[in-house]
Amino acid sequence: MNNHIKIKEIIKPFHKDIEVSADKSISIRSVLLASQAIGKSRIYNLLESEDVMNSLETIKKLGINFKKFKKFYEINGFGLNGYKTSKKITINAGNSGTLARLILGLLVNSKKQIKLTGDESLSKRDFLRITNPLQKFGVNIVTKKNCLPVKITGSEFLRPIKYNEKLGSAQCKSSVMLAAIKTPGKTTIEAKKSRDHTELLFKYLKIPINISKKKNHDIIEVIGPANFKGFEYKIPGDISSSSFFIVLTLLAKNSEIRIRSVNVNNSRTGIIKILNKMNAKISLKNKKNYRGELLADIVVKSRNNLKGIDCPEKLNSSAIDEFLVIFLVAAKAKGVSTFRNLSELNKKESPRLEIAVKFLNLIGVRYKRKKDNIKIFGNPDLNLKGKYTIGNFKKDHRVFMMSCIAALSFGGRWKIEDKDSINTSFPNFIKILKQLGGKIN
Ligand code: S3P
Repeated sequence: MNNHIKIKEIIKPFHKDIEVSADKSISIRSVLLASQAIGKSRIYNLLESEDVMNSLETIKKLGINFKKFKKFYEINGFGLNGYKTSKKITINAGNSGTLARLILGLLVNSKKQIKLTGDESLSKRDFLRITNPLQKFGVNIVTKKNCLPVKITGSEFLRPIKYNEKLGSAQCKSSVMLAAIKTPGKTTIEAKKSRDHTELLFKYLKIPINISKKKNHDIIEVIGPANFKGFEYKIPGDISSSSFFIVLTLLAKNSEIRIRSVNVNNSRTGIIKILNKMNAKISLKNKKNYRGELLADIVVKSRNNLKGIDCPEKLNSSAIDEFLVIFLVAAKAKGVSTFRNLSELNKKESPRLEIAVKFLNLIGVRYKRKKDNIKIFGNPDLNLKGKYTIGNFKKDHRVFMMSCIAALSFGGRWKIEDKDSINTSFPNFIKILKQLGGKIN
């Protein structure tokens, strides 16, 4: 079946007001937490993408029912011991690292062995980063050569742990936090800064948590066991999905966009801080607080005087899913952009730093790569005329979407494979591009 798209025209100027789909990180977290609450939860505006549907299928396999209504999903939990784990079960997390890593935290009290599998891309990713801390709770958990399948058999005698999370991985931190709510006593996590949606959800759900914020890390204490009640939550827009339109607008001619009601939590807005340092002038309007999360409309105008950046390393984690599109801005900016210590970029759905380098090569943008550091030599006159085929990127949704933005911004005739990859995070992506006037076949 035809699973590619073709783009052969730069996008024309546009002035639009859009909404992107719901935040994937919070969608998955809210499904998993609702599955462990006591009683019914209602989740409004849940992201209907494959990663989130796999989360719903996962809780169903564990005996938790959910129902779809017109405006919300209802999930009926039975508390921390509510999963049915007295038979051996296999769970398939598909493409989702977040689902796979977080659910393991919730399986620390499983009665029988649970096997966790995933698709080809997820099966190549590192799970030792999760099995190492979870083992310390006293559970039996093994990987196959550090990867999936992972087999976990929980324990009745969980013990709290002290864990130093050094990668800046919110998935690792959250997995341990979820295990901690099932474990009697105080689990302490020293975590390098990363997205803090799990912490904010715990606070909203009144799960006992203390956080002391230091310059480069947080000390998080979770006191378990911590049963909590069913809840209501409306998921805000996803800044990672917004990032494609932010960059498209910035690089287009005479255009402007307002992206409504996006989660602009400080731990996610690295892209805005980085692009503003490159002269982007992106602004946040109508700021409001929702259950501890900051929401706002993101307003972006085209800019023709973008400049290179020496990107502060401390912004890496809050922009980790956005570097591919940030590199497009660097490619068109005046001067050199330097990004350092991006090793985690190679640990995603595809090795994104390797892919970025191949991509820059393909479009003739000069760069210097040294281990996990990259310098991009921007060219404000970048204007492509050639033919470009993009494939072989492990069906990584963000590589697909970044390639579409490059095609609509830089010109040339493009064929981009694996259109279906967007279904993991942002099924409406092409529809919105077309609304903005993008010609896509
Ligand atoms: C996520 C955390 C990040 C991010 C991923 C979603 C989350 O991964 O790249 O897309 O929802 O916690 P790491 O925790 O591996 O950095």
